[in-house]
Amino acid sequence: MVEETPWQQALRYANRANPYPFYEELRKTPVARQPDGTYVVSTYREIVTLLHDPRVSSDPRKCPAPAPATAKGSAEPAAEVAPTEGAPPEPSIITCDPPEHDRDRRTMTPHFVGPPDSPHLIAGLEPEIRRIVDGLLEHMRGRTRIDAVDDFAYPLPVTVICKVLGVPLEDEPRFHQWIQTALDAWEFGSDPASEEFRSRLAGANEAMREFGQFAAGLFDRYARQPGPGMLSAMVNEEGPEGRMSGGRLVSNALLLIFAGHETTVNLIAHSVLTLLRHPDALEKLRRRPELIVSGVEELLRFESSVQFWPTRSAVQDIAIAGTTIPKGAPIFLAYGAANRDPEQFTDPDELDLERPDNQHLGFSQGIHFCFGAPLARLEVQSAVGEFVRRVENPRLVEDPPPYRRNQIFRGPRHVLVDIDGVHD
Ligand code: HEM
Repeated sequence: MVEETPWQQALRYANRANPYPFYEELRKTPVARQPDGTYVVSTYREIVTLLHDPRVSSDPRKCPAPAPATAKGSAEPAAEVAPTEGAPPEPSIITCDPPEHDRDRRTMTPHFVGPPDSPHLIAGLEPEIRRIVDGLLEHMRGRTRIDAVDDFAYPLPVTVICKVLGVPLEDEPRFHQWIQTALDAWEFGSDPASEEFRSRLAGANEAMREFGQFAAGLFDRYARQPGPGMLSAMVNEEGPEGRMSGGRLVSNALLLIFAGHETTVNLIAHSVLTLLRHPDALEKLRRRPELIVSGVEELLRFESSVQFWPTRSAVQDIAIAGTTIPKGAPIFLAYGAANRDPEQFTDPDELDLERPDNQHLGFSQGIHFCFGAPLARLEVQSAVGEFVRRVENPRLVEDPPPYRRNQIFRGPRHVLVDIDGVHD
């Protein structure tokens, strides 16, 4: 029997709750060629180097040999979907390179943060975020057991991203289903020739097609009658770079809906889980609530919501860490492993809410640095800060909890918590 590589072991569902021993093994070869030809980069220094190297592309159209889970579909939802039947799929900002990346990101930014002279849209959401968190905690009153995912981590980001974008919240069950179908299908390490894999991928492609039609329908509606939120602004307002084409509008809308909540849900759920596993840290945060700002950064370093990103490839041969990544090879940047790299972080497996100089890669770095980071930070600080302050005597019911299947967006499916109450 062929022995599995540390990366293949880390990808196994059985190891989803604790991939860290395999990451430790993986980091011994900072740039590790896998049997399928993918190069997995797991050390902090090498990832940062490649994030700033123009010979690394994020555009799957430039990769002649995509990794298995992306071979017939895409691990990135937006790129697969065309607005109209038969049109070629167009990239979102996460799957293209400069100059188109920079042009599209510049076009989107003022609609998200506000125009250059008053970039306060995100900060202005704070009272609303607090109100939503408050409502969710009020709902827990009188209960003795909650699910920190379904009752808390999920509803906040989804409500907020719907508001920011102008997506009707009533449509949430539909896009939730499409996203879950896609996430469950994009599993790395599956046999791409197997019937089961093909059928899951076909389901995912159909889900993403419907999701794309849904977004195209929203743009059509807003083009006829402008409404609140970023999508309406993107279709109606002309910025210095002009307007995006229909296909790009749809791809970026899907990216925003998707990235705007999946990752944040996982960070809130992991934060609750991690703090309940570290009672000293929980108590410290209760006594010193101002630590929530550095605390959330540390929680993201400790359990990264995006474990790796799979659309990069080498556009030229790249010599790094004693290896040459050949032109055309897929490159996975394993943020989850780099965030526990002892060469960068002292005692990386310790949770330190006051960790100095915490330059983690939870939001990446360079030109693809997370577009939504200011919003995500605001939401998670508010949610976790209030949970710690108001929920009485929370105890984990099941440890480890069950995990979602997806390896990129790693997070618990449920986190059951017994509580004594919720105070004001
Ligand atoms: C805790 C929550 C979040 C985490 C951990 C996270 C993480 C990341 C990471 C690691 C990347 C870089 C991927 C790569 O390697 O190319 C990224 C990019 C991105 N994120 Fe987030 N994200 C979060 C929340 C959000 C939110 C709330 C939004 C939207 C409002 C968002 C929108 C985006 C977009 C549009 C990009 C692509 C940026 C580009 O390619 O220029 N993210 N995110």
